[in-house]
Amino acid sequence: MSGKNEHPEDFGTGARDLQEHFEPHELKNPIPWPLIAIAATLAIWGGATLLFDARATTTGRDALLAQGRPEMTPSLVETAAQEGDAAAARSAALYDSYCATCHQTNGAGVRGAVPPLDGSEYVLADAALPVSILLRGLSGPIVVDGEVYDARMPTWHATLGDEEIADIVTHVRGAWSNDAGPVSAEQVAATRAALSAELDRPWAGGAELFDAFGEFSETMADDQPEEPRAQ
Ligand code: HEC
Repeated sequence: MSGKNEHPEDFGTGARDLQEHFEPHELKNPIPWPLIAIAATLAIWGGATLLFDARATTTGRDALLAQGRPEMTPSLVETAAQEGDAAAARSAALYDSYCATCHQTNGAGVRGAVPPLDGSEYVLADAALPVSILLRGLSGPIVVDGEVYDARMPTWHATLGDEEIADIVTHVRGAWSNDAGPVSAEQVAATRAALSAELDRPWAGGAELFDAFGEFSETMADDQPEEPRAQ
């Protein structure tokens, strides 16, 4: 029926070929041991780096929390610091997983390609603005800190839940030199509901964000590049 079995001689040739080229010594040394040693060293180094980075972040947060609440009794400060620690560590880990590849661990972005989050007015404005950017993504020209960017920011509404988006936005609003208030999962849920018809269409850039959120920022208007607006 099929062409395969009509030519058994082809089959035989293939099998003989295999036998002739088989080198038994290859079986004894499947992976050279120096390679295994290098892989193991890298794995241990990676684990250690992760551990120390996480510790550095939580310690800084601890210190801030304790400083900001001088009127609290030590036990209350301790409790708050511990709770703050757990939340801060979780948020920092989410940021590292989902954002740091592009915006970098220090929030500085990548010059000419990815805008900074440290000092960005989009991050520091009313929390609904950064939450909306995360939910819908962004694709179009935008000026951040005087530099024009025109790339694509992924859409997160399908990947991240309300709680995760709240944690991440709270993290970037309070990290590095940023000093803006936290956002709750309830606020994210409300923004998600308000945008529900357009979640799959990324914001068209700074100009569309200004139309929707301009009231939150005095400089955003002058900031945006003159660009043909898609109608
Ligand atoms: C694949 C790379 C990439 C990832 C991952 C990414 N972004 Fe972005 N982000 C961008 C780019 C590129 C822009 C600018 C888009 C444009 O030019 O229209 C941007 C813009 C932004 C902006 C508005 C401009 C600014 O600098 O304030 C915010 C806020 C933002 N991203 C936050 C985040 C957060 C939080 C995460 C993690 C959930 C994240 N981004 C993940 C690439 C990325």
